[in-house]
Amino acid sequence: MSTAAPAVSTPAIQPTASSRKKMTATAFRQKKERGEIITMLTAYDYPTALAEDQAGIDAILVGDSLAMVVLGYQNTLPVTMDEMLHHSRAVARGAKYALLIGDMPFMSYQASTELAVRNAGRFLQEGGMEAVKLEGGRERLEAVRAITGAGIPVMGHLGLTPQSVNQLGGFRPQGRNAVAAKRLVEDALMLEDAGCFSLVLESVPARLAELVSHKLNIPTVGIGAGIGCDGQVLVTHDLLGLFDRFTPKFVKKYADFHGEMQRAFGEFIQDVQSRSFPAAQHSVDIDEAEWQQLMRDLES
Ligand code: KIV
Repeated sequence: MSTAAPAVSTPAIQPTASSRKKMTATAFRQKKERGEIITMLTAYDYPTALAEDQAGIDAILVGDSLAMVVLGYQNTLPVTMDEMLHHSRAVARGAKYALLIGDMPFMSYQASTELAVRNAGRFLQEGGMEAVKLEGGRERLEAVRAITGAGIPVMGHLGLTPQSVNQLGGFRPQGRNAVAAKRLVEDALMLEDAGCFSLVLESVPARLAELVSHKLNIPTVGIGAGIGCDGQVLVTHDLLGLFDRFTPKFVKKYADFHGEMQRAFGEFIQDVQSRSFPAAQHSVDIDEAEWQQLMRDLES
């Protein structure tokens, strides 16, 4: 790792430290009351969290999408609590202002309410997070009540819930008929009533997400759910073009980091093979007198 000062260190947007307040679950809710839009991104490591925080993001989600975009699994099911905590700690070291939300992985909250509370607690005690997110509606109410009862803010997640991919028959939009849409509206109201401070709506019709957002007092954060939500979230690796496998239709790609990485790696390989790297400025020298002394020592 280089210890030299970075050539460029100024992010595009950098609110002054004095004007910036630490985001909390309560402040998240107040943003909706004031009609202010909420921004959220995922992060899984220190440098990404640092850059997002410095850019002014409201919340950072250590998503279980970690399983797919960082660890290379086909879906989110294999990622464990310990892996989530490992990445949460790195993110917590990078972010100062954003609300930090740990995504409860598959089987960390489904088996029992007690397990759910214990694992939610681990995100705060061991992972440096300030809130947790879990997937599901009416079947999660007991867990939501118990976790919030322990003083831990909970974000809900409805619509396409990737941990249920086997039940949903794939990563496909949800709530597209009247029965499913009504169930989703009911679930959203129940999650709010159970104590969630916010709700992710993933891959649902824009009109449905807007309706839910109007019905709830807590903010909705949409991903593939249109413009009518109270906030927007994207998986950072999709936004940066870092995940080469596929890009969901609802993603706006702001960069092509996969292509940029390939270019940089290719240039490094070429430079090494052509012996143009390292150049003199990348090398350390030894004082001439010391060198001569070494030569004499080696000869004797
Ligand atoms: O795991 C994740 O990144 C998420 C977002 C898609 C909201 O749950």
